[in-house]
Amino acid sequence: MTTPPSGWTDELARVRLHVVTGKGGTGKTTGAAALAVALAHGGRRVLLVEVEGRQGLAQLFGRSPLPYAEEHLTRVPGGGEVRALAVDAEAALLEYLSMFYNLGFAGRTLRKMGAIEFATTLAPGLRDVLLTGKVKECVTRTDSRGRHAYDAVVLDAPPTGRVAKFLDVTRAMADLAKVGPIRDQSEGVVRLLHSGETAVHLVALLEELPVQETLEAVDELDAADLRPGAVLVNRVRPVRLPAGEVDTAARGAVDAEHVVSGLRNAGLDPAPAVVTGLVDQTVEHALRVRSERAAMTQLAAAGLPVLELPDRPDGIDAGVVHELAELLIEQGVR
Ligand SMILES: Nc1ncnc2c1ncn2[C@@H]1O[C@H](COP(=O)(O)OP(=O)(O)O)[C@@H](O)[C@H]1O
Ligand SMILES: [Mg+2]
Repeated sequence: MTTPPSGWTDELARVRLHVVTGKGGTGKTTGAAALAVALAHGGRRVLLVEVEGRQGLAQLFGRSPLPYAEEHLTRVPGGGEVRALAVDAEAALLEYLSMFYNLGFAGRTLRKMGAIEFATTLAPGLRDVLLTGKVKECVTRTDSRGRHAYDAVVLDAPPTGRVAKFLDVTRAMADLAKVGPIRDQSEGVVRLLHSGETAVHLVALLEELPVQETLEAVDELDAADLRPGAVLVNRVRPVRLPAGEVDTAARGAVDAEHVVSGLRNAGLDPAPAVVTGLVDQTVEHALRVRSERAAMTQLAAAGLPVLELPDRPDGIDAGVVHELAELLIEQGVR
């Protein structure tokens, strides 16, 4: 790439809540998981949270659906551990109510009646407040000696189009209860989300629309006084042409004779159709490299740290997530 990735900053190293967003399908779940594993290196405890009810984490790690409980997900070299939690708005509401009002049996009845669904449908903002409230509780929880339960929490968040609204707890609260425990709790959530302890990372692909969405999301986050973290450029593919030859090749000026002599040197005797095919492929590759370079330059203009994750043609599983995490560490994640 022409613009080298700029890596992790000291500011990001101090963040405890890493929110990962991006255009749908760009690799939020993959990126969040790789980041969680990377942060858990060196013996740290990290919680990976999902809020969309998709069970993407369970799928990625090839295990049965996660319950509404913090469960062991994977061990990391050096004694670290990633735990996972699938937060569900209904369970969070029951937990919340039972914390402040002793519901007990009534809570179970509520659940059976579908009252929770009713309540969250009535006040859509309530759902997000409950989810972010649970995340905040995980970030700030301490043990009896005052040590944080988790060194870091990584949130596999809603996509860029919805993330600013999701994190705008203040606005949601304006539509909800004016008084009471939910208001007090939400003030703590607002403080955390707008503090230096939180960063919102953006997963992007080197394609026009994801790049545009990423830049728009950065503006939206800035406007909402939320802190954009790093850009995680996902699915980066190898460049197979020397940097100086990309523009020439993209113009279609590929020297067929050069291709033939190269193949002859390798002991091959290519048919003319094969040579034409190779030349076409080279031009196509050069065009792709050029547009990806332009996309990278556009992304870099946001002025955020940039990290890269390679495309893995065979797909993603738990083992690959650990490999991606190693690459993030090489780029400074700590
Ligand atoms: N670096 C990568 N290389 C290859 N496939 C990837 C990569 N990152 C994501 N994918 C695949 O792309 C799809 C979407 O990724 P996912 O992380 O689920 O995105 P999101 O959470 O944003 O919807 C999945 O099938 C995933 O396996
Ligand atoms: Mg996902």
